[in-house]
Amino acid sequence: MGFYQKHLFVCHNQRAEGKPCCADYDSAHARDYLKARCKTLGIHGEGQVRINQAGCLGRCEQGPVLVIYPEGTWYTWVDEQDLDEIISQHLQQGQIVKRLLL
Ligand code: FES
Repeated sequence: MGFYQKHLFVCHNQRAEGKPCCADYDSAHARDYLKARCKTLGIHGEGQVRINQAGCLGRCEQGPVLVIYPEGTWYTWVDEQDLDEIISQHLQQGQIVKRLLL
């Protein structure tokens, strides 16, 4: 097993000149929310889940985006309820949240 069981990257990127980007959706808040929830649930840290910010992941028009490795599963979200579902279904139960897939 790797150092982390699952590694989640949330794009924070701000693009110039009004081009679509994840920062338009306050993705920094989503990263903070995911990290705080995982800590509260006791699933954040070595051997478990790691939440990190990322620069542009190349799917700007589909944002906001996050990706979970090692699966390479891409998600988008609208609100904290969606993020909670990603945590409970994907991170805790290993099940894909199909309605949020990119
Ligand atoms: S700005 Fe998030 S994928 Fe490019």
